[in-house]
Amino acid sequence: MENVVAIDGPGGAGKSTIARLLAQKLNYLHLDTGAMYRAVTLAALRKKIDFNKQDKLIELAKNTDINFNQNGDIFLNGENISEEIRTAAVNKHVSQTAAVKGVREVLVKKQQLLAQNNKVVMDGRDITTVVLPEAEHKFFLTASLEERARRRYQEVKSKNKDITLEKIKKSIARRDKMDSEREHSPLKKADDAILVDTTNLTIEEVLDRMIAIIKGES
Ligand code: C5P
Repeated sequence: MENVVAIDGPGGAGKSTIARLLAQKLNYLHLDTGAMYRAVTLAALRKKIDFNKQDKLIELAKNTDINFNQNGDIFLNGENISEEIRTAAVNKHVSQTAAVKGVREVLVKKQQLLAQNNKVVMDGRDITTVVLPEAEHKFFLTASLEERARRRYQEVKSKNKDITLEKIKKSIARRDKMDSEREHSPLKKADDAILVDTTNLTIEEVLDRMIAIIKGES
């Protein structure tokens, strides 16, 4: 599948930042699939849906209109929810939403359709394994838990005074565990995805390495 870059990896590994910058450089569309699972989760929180009721979550996913604009902002039924999908409440429930097979089926279909009609850089947990296994370029981005927690902490500490590095570490570790151990489309590295460990690399270094691989220079 030409003109498609698929990126997977655990939370906080820098996937979305890297995918966004890579898309800008290549002039491709960036599709953050985590944002889609977050959008359904936010819609469920607003409707006070019980996260154990899978049928309700599936119905909601089917009836929710999710869109992106060129800047990567995400819209739920026309409303820009880019900020609101990053709250602690969404973090807490998103892996539960994402574990529901029927929810995944709805969102995966949308993602595949977008990749058919656009040049895309798509990032998530199952892009290289399930959504776009035939992508031209496949990467698995990771970093140590400590480093991922440190990065997230730097990002959010000015906005949230109650947050601590320890709390963030726990929350990331919990989601890693749920995402890797779930029954449907668990997070795992595809055999043919290129592993990039970003623990000791700057964003520029990661980008340079990936672009060199995409251009066949490395
Ligand atoms: O990437 P982000 O941290 O925003 O993803 C939020 C959650 O959405 C993940 O923890 C995971 O549960 C779910 N997700 C998924 N499959 C994807 C992308 C995200 O299950 N392709």
